Amino acid sequence: MTVTDDLRGGIVVCGIVACRLTGGAEEFLLPALRRLEYRGYDSAGIAVTGPGQGGPHTVRAVGRLDALLGRLAARPLPTGLGIGVGHTRWATHGVVSEANAHPHRDCSGSVAVVHNGILDNADQLRAELTRRGHRFSSEVDSEVVAHLVEEAGAGRLVDAVRTAVRQLHGSWALAVTSGRAAEVVLACHRSPLVVGLAEDGYVAASDLTALLGTVGHVHVLQDGDIVELTDQISWTDGHGAALPPRPPVTVDWAAEDAETGVYEDFMEKEIAEQPAAARRLLERLLPQIVDGRLWAGLGLPPVPAVRFVACGSSLHASAAAARVFRRVAGLPTTVAVASEFEPEPGFPDHGLTVAVSQSGETADVLSAVEAVPGPLLALTNSPSSSLARRADAVLDCTAGPEIGVAATKTFTTQVIGGAALGLAVAAAFGRASPAAVTAHVAALARLPDLLDAAQLTSFPVADALADDLADAPGFFFVSRGAGLPYAAEGALKLKEITYRWAEGIAAGELKHGPIALIDESTPVVVVDSGSRTRLNGAAAEMRARGARIIRVGAEPEATFPVLAADEPPWGPLESVVALQHLARSLAITLGRDTDKPRNLAKSVTVL
Ligand code: M6R
Repeated sequence: MTVTDDLRGGIVVCGIVACRLTGGAEEFLLPALRRLEYRGYDSAGIAVTGPGQGGPHTVRAVGRLDALLGRLAARPLPTGLGIGVGHTRWATHGVVSEANAHPHRDCSGSVAVVHNGILDNADQLRAELTRRGHRFSSEVDSEVVAHLVEEAGAGRLVDAVRTAVRQLHGSWALAVTSGRAAEVVLACHRSPLVVGLAEDGYVAASDLTALLGTVGHVHVLQDGDIVELTDQISWTDGHGAALPPRPPVTVDWAAEDAETGVYEDFMEKEIAEQPAAARRLLERLLPQIVDGRLWAGLGLPPVPAVRFVACGSSLHASAAAARVFRRVAGLPTTVAVASEFEPEPGFPDHGLTVAVSQSGETADVLSAVEAVPGPLLALTNSPSSSLARRADAVLDCTAGPEIGVAATKTFTTQVIGGAALGLAVAAAFGRASPAAVTAHVAALARLPDLLDAAQLTSFPVADALADDLADAPGFFFVSRGAGLPYAAEGALKLKEITYRWAEGIAAGELKHGPIALIDESTPVVVVDSGSRTRLNGAAAEMRARGARIIRVGAEPEATFPVLAADEPPWGPLESVVALQHLARSLAITLGRDTDKPRNLAKSVTVL
C-alpha cells in the first residue's frame, strides 16, 4: 500500500506535530509546523522537554508561524531537548488569543497537550474539573484533556492519557507530553494521526505533509489506538491491551510536492499542475469507461437516480458532473448543498449518493451523508478520509497534495472524475450509444491539452488586467447552462482570495434585479457557454451601463480565448484556469496572501 492509496485523508482544520528524538525537537517541530500552516494560521505553539529537564517549556504566539519564530528568537528555549509537541490553530472554540493557542497545560504546568478535533462534552468536563479545583486558563475545549491527564495521577503518562480519553466524547487527535516522563503519548478518534521512524527517533503528525522528507513510511493510527513513544514505540488499545503496530504505509510523495519550488506560491503551482493532474487521472480512467470496467470495479448496484452532495468548490464541480449524468446517462440527478441537505421526497432509497469533497473531512458533507440510506460513492482526493471510510466505493481524484486554501487542481479533477463516472454509468447500463460515449471519452482525452493551452494564455492576460481591476469593489461572473458552475467557481475564487464581493449568476437573471448594482466600476466576467445570442445580449445590456466586460470564450477576440469550439456535457472546464489566474493576479495586486486567505482553512471540519 502507498500513501496515495491510504493516507491523504484525515485532513482537518489545525495541525499537530510531535516527536521523541535524540536530537533537538525544535528542529523538527518548526519546519513540520511550517508545512502544516495551511491547516490553520491563527496562532501556533510548541512545548519541548527532555529526560530530567523539567517543563514542558512552552512558547505560543498569535498569528502565523513567523510570530512564533520571532518569540523563540527573542526568548530561546533550552537547546537540545528532544521531546516535543506543536500546533497550528484555526480557531473554533474561543477567540484567537495566546491563551487559547495550543499547547494547553494542566494546573501544575507539567502536562502539555495539542489537540485536533472537537470535544463535544468539553463544557461538562470543564464544569466538573472546575468543581474539583482545576483552574482553566483558556476558553478552548482541548484544555480539559491536560487537566484530565493531571487528575489521572502521577503514574505512567500513557495510563493517564488512556484514563483521560475514556471520558471524552467527540473527535480527537492528541499528542501529550509531560515534564515528568521522557515520552510522548498519541491518541486518536475520528481525527487523523500518523507516526513514523525518522533518523533520530519517532515523529508524528496529523497530516502526512508535515513528515515528507523525514520518514520513508508511516503507521496510521486507528480510532481508539494509544501509542507511546519512548526510545521505542508501543501500541495499545483503550483498555491497555497490547496491539501490533498498524501496517506500514510507504510515503510516495516527495518533499518537493509540499514546496512551492519555482512558483511564487502554492496556488500558482497548483493551477499550473492541472494539466498533469488531469492527464494522470484520465490515463487511469479513460481505458475503463466504454467497456464497463470503471463502473463494475466500484462494486455498486444499478443506479435509478443520482444525487450529488458537496460544499463550496466541490459543489460547483458536482453541478458540472451532474450534467453528464443527466444529459448523457439520462438519469434523474440532483445537486444538494451539504449543509442544507434533506433527503428529497421521491428520491429512491437505493438511489446513488455521490459525495464530493477534496479533503473527505468536511463536516457538512459527513453530516449530510449520515442520513442517506442508499449506496454512497466518495469522489475525493483523500482516499483514507472519514468520507472514504464511510463510503461504499471511492473514486480517487489523485490530484496530489493541494496546499493552497483555494481549491484549484482538486476542482478540475473532481469535474473530470465526475464526468468519467457519468459516462461509465451510461456505458455500463446502455443508457447512451457506444458511439456517443466514445465521442465524449475522446473529448475528455483532449482536456489536458486544452488546460495546458489555457494555462499558457491566461497567466499574462490576468496579470495585465489586475492593475485595472484593483479599484473595482465588486464583480459579476455570468454564464448560462453548462457554464454556470464555472461562473460560480470564478466568483468564489475571487471572493475567497481578494476579499472583493463577487456574484456568479445566470446571465438572464441580471435584468431581474442585480443589474441595479452595475455601474462604470463593475467588471463583468462572461463565461461563454452554449448559444452566444443571449449571452451577447446580456453583455450588451451591461456594457450599455458602463460595465467592463471580460470575456472567457473560444473566439480569438475574447479577453481569455481559452475555450474549445465544441462544448462537452461537463461544460467549459478550461474556463476555470482563466478564472483562477484572474483571482490570483488581482489578489497579488491587492497584497493578499493567495495561499492563506483570512478567516479560512483548507478543510472545514466544523458544522
Ligand atoms: O474539502 P472539501 O472539498 O469538502 O471542501 C469544500 C469547501 O470548503 C471548499 O471547496 C472551499 O469552498 C474551497 N476552499 C474554495 O476554494
